[in-house]
This record gives sequence, structure tokens and C-alpha cells, in this order.
Amino acid sequence: MNLDFDPDWLRLREPLDDAARAVGLAWAFGRILPTHPMIIDLGAGTGSNVRQLAMKLGRGEQDWTLIEKDRKLLAKAPGEIGRWADRNGWEHKEQRRAYMITCDDMAVRVEMRSFDLSQDPAELGLNQYDGVTAKALFDLVSAAWLDRFVKELAGCGFPPLLATLIVDGRVEFSIADEDDAFVLERFHAHMGRAKGLGGPALGPAAPKALVASLTAAGYRVETAQADWKIGPKQIAAHLAMLEGYARAAAEQEPAASPRIQAWAARRRDLASEQGARLMVGHLDLLARR
Ligand SMILES: C[S@@+](CC[C@H](N)C(=O)[O-])C[C@H]1O[C@@H](n2cnc3c(N)ncnc32)[C@H](O)[C@@H]1O
Repeated sequence: MNLDFDPDWLRLREPLDDAARAVGLAWAFGRILPTHPMIIDLGAGTGSNVRQLAMKLGRGEQDWTLIEKDRKLLAKAPGEIGRWADRNGWEHKEQRRAYMITCDDMAVRVEMRSFDLSQDPAELGLNQYDGVTAKALFDLVSAAWLDRFVKELAGCGFPPLLATLIVDGRVEFSIADEDDAFVLERFHAHMGRAKGLGGPALGPAAPKALVASLTAAGYRVETAQADWKIGPKQIAAHLAMLEGYARAAAEQEPAASPRIQAWAARRRDLASEQGARLMVGHLDLLARR
């Protein structure tokens, strides 16, 4: 399973993302927004951020634009959003290239836009939006991309930015293995490979880089930890993480593959031991003028 963009993986992690979210920052973001806000979500995948944020932003009318370069993921968004509406007993329908969800006190319009964020950020038209969101995106971007993007935000009047679930490099297994550090070091180095967004990806350096860049531009930045707490009930996610760690680490250092596979086999056994837990550190961030 590709830990970045596989739709099954995105679905598996969605409840972990939701539980990890620093809700106070989401509420604060909602309080800054005007009535009937226009929100743009970057690297939207199948629209998970809409599903997790809509009810935390004061409900009412909301207009979302989902920005995603992977058309296959974007094509899955209406289905995922429809199932979310069904689970909540809300009405939903497609209307003029957008998706509408309505219930007594909320009307959410979601438009999907296929767009590659490696393009000029001016093409996003950020000045049309009241708020910008992105979940699990900023560890993929390069320092140069971040610099350009933050300049664009400033040039568009400093819209509030809610950037969540940014990997910060902390990983803790409740039961230690002697090769944890060996594998994770290679995994985190692999995270730094370029992801098509302007050069080497920031990976676990993203939280610090984002805070520094936004603060220097004139934003006031608040952060909170938003860690995945993977327990015995999330064994599928635990195993997927192990597979992702092992695959990336072996790609990073092919000669160490046997050692890494041996680690993965031991870790799979440990994962099914009673009470086994895995914590993956993330940061949520709210930036406002
Ligand atoms: C880790 S996933 C997170 C998806 C979604 N935000 C979520 O939380 O479920 C990162 C997303 O960024 C998208 N992405 C990566 N590079 C991109 C680019 N250059 N332009 C637009 N989207 C991109 C990927 O396709 C993927 O959907």
C-alpha cells in the first residue's frame, strides 16, 4: 500500500485523522470565517477534510473547492461525500458540476477542481477564498514551493490557513525493537524525496519550516499536536504503517533490505500482542493575520 495516495489507505486513515485533529484550532478557524465562507482545500484526495470540518465550522452554508491533481481520487470524492451524507441522514445531489449536501442547519456545496499544485499558485485564485485548508499535504512540499506559496497567501490578503496532520517525525512503538531507529531513519530520509512540488520534500521538517515561513510573512501562528494513536482496534492501520515503513526504508537502502524485512516480520508479531500501540506524531497549525 502506498502510504501517500492510495485511496484504500486514505479511507483506512480517515478515522485516525479525525481522532487526531486538534479540534480547538478547527473551531477557531471556523470563528474567523464569515457567514457562508468560500474555502479552498489543497491536496484534497477524496474530500476527507470537508467531511471532517464541515460540522466544526459553525455549520450554515459553506462553499468548498477541492484541489487535487489525481483525477482518480477526485472522481471518488462524490461517492465518499455521498456515503458520509447518507450515514448522517442528509440529502445530497449533484448540481451543475458541484455536489450539494443539505440538512436542517447546513448546506455544503463542494466543487472538485483538477489542478497540479506544482503550477503557479497565482492560478489558484486564492484571493477569491475566505479560508485555505490542507490536510496531510505540507510534508510533501519543498522549501522553495512553501516560500512561493506563502508569498502568494500574503499577496492575496493573508487568508486564514488551517494546515493539519503535518508529519513531525515522532514515532513511538509501545513495545520497542532494536531496529526501530534504523528503519525509521531510512523511512524519514525517503520522505525527503521530491514529490513533484519544487524539490526535495520537507518531510518531518515541514512543521518548523511552515511556522517559520508563515510567521516571517506576517501571520500569527498557533500549533497543536495531532498524533495518530493506533491501538489494538486499528490493527489494519498498524500493519499498513509497518508495510509502508519497510517498503520506503528498503527503497532508501536496498542493501539493508534483509535487515528491514526481518524487522517488519518481528514488528508484525509485536503488533498483534495484547495492548500493542503505535503513535505517529503530527502537528496541526492555524495561521491568521
Ligand atoms: C497524504 S494525501 C492527503 C489527502 C487528503 N487531504 C486527506 O487527508 O485524505 C496527499 C494528497 O495530496 C495530493 N497531491 C500531491 N501532490 C499534488 C500536486 N502536485 N497537486 C495537487 N495535489 C497533490 C495527492 O494526490 C494526495 O491526494
